Amino acid sequence: MKTAVIGATGTVGSRVVAKLKDRNVSPVEISRSAGVDLITGEGLGEALASVDVAIDVSNAFPPDETIGLHEALTSATRNIVDACTTQQVGHLVYLSISGVDKPVFDDFPYYVAKRSQDGIVAESSVPATVVKSTQFHEFATNPSAVSFEDNGVRVEDWLVQPVAADTVAEVLVEAALANPGTRTRTITGPEEIRLPDLTTKLLDRLGDARPVRATAASLPELSEGILLAPDHATVLGPDINTWLDTVNPPH
Ligand SMILES: NC(=O)c1ccc[n+]([C@@H]2O[C@H](COP(=O)([O-])OP(=O)(O)OC[C@H]3O[C@@H](n4cnc5c(N)ncnc54)[C@H](OP(=O)(O)O)[C@@H]3O)[C@@H](O)[C@H]2O)c1
Repeated sequence: MKTAVIGATGTVGSRVVAKLKDRNVSPVEISRSAGVDLITGEGLGEALASVDVAIDVSNAFPPDETIGLHEALTSATRNIVDACTTQQVGHLVYLSISGVDKPVFDDFPYYVAKRSQDGIVAESSVPATVVKSTQFHEFATNPSAVSFEDNGVRVEDWLVQPVAADTVAEVLVEAALANPGTRTRTITGPEEIRLPDLTTKLLDRLGDARPVRATAASLPELSEGILLAPDHATVLGPDINTWLDTVNPPH
């Protein structure tokens, strides 16, 4: 079965590639560094030629100010489903974020774009497995909520229930190796934590002594639990301390 990873160099994509290789599957690795531009679609059809299953873990942010966030992300998804259709890819495994449909996010640009991406996948004729994940443990340093400065680190006070990117990758690989079908699954991690506390734990592990300062979340609801997993989510380890033990401090 020929497999492609779209967004192969990313936080979760690099882990998906590694896990496929562990199973002796050598995937087509798709990213700009591999000569494919998802926003324009350049090189995508060729990369997906004769592919049976594609795992989309891309995050096609605008490269410059000539294109907005919503247009960039939705263009990428439209190009992916169009190329999958043309190339007769039999199964698309697509990663999204848990909770983006909640009305509180109606003015939250990234989540509004994510909803539109989800809609493009749902409306396409490509058999799709959709995995909706809460934030990753690795979100502890994500620039959308964390700002690094010389003298400290500012972290928005989100309440999250993170899951390890490695675990997300495992779920995606298992979905890709299973039979195609249209289904949705929500996954999360075992613990709730305030993001500044998660960042503090990770920086301690990395030996980064900069103080962490919690700042107000851009939406108050982000501090109040709106991102916690729904009851139907599958809870998957490792917990945060076990995950931290796997993070290698710099030498
Ligand atoms: N981070 C979280 O906590 C979280 C939680 C739930 C779901 N998700 C979702 O998971 C997905 C992956 O997230 P991530 O954090 O792993 O992303 P990431 O680390 O930012 O990786 C994004 C990948 O997309 C590729 N890419 C970006 N723009 C591209 C373009 N124009 N053409 C081709 N490739 C492009 C990047 O490769 P190049 O830069 O080399 O092109 C990279 O391989 C996203 O859809 C995100 O919404 C994330």
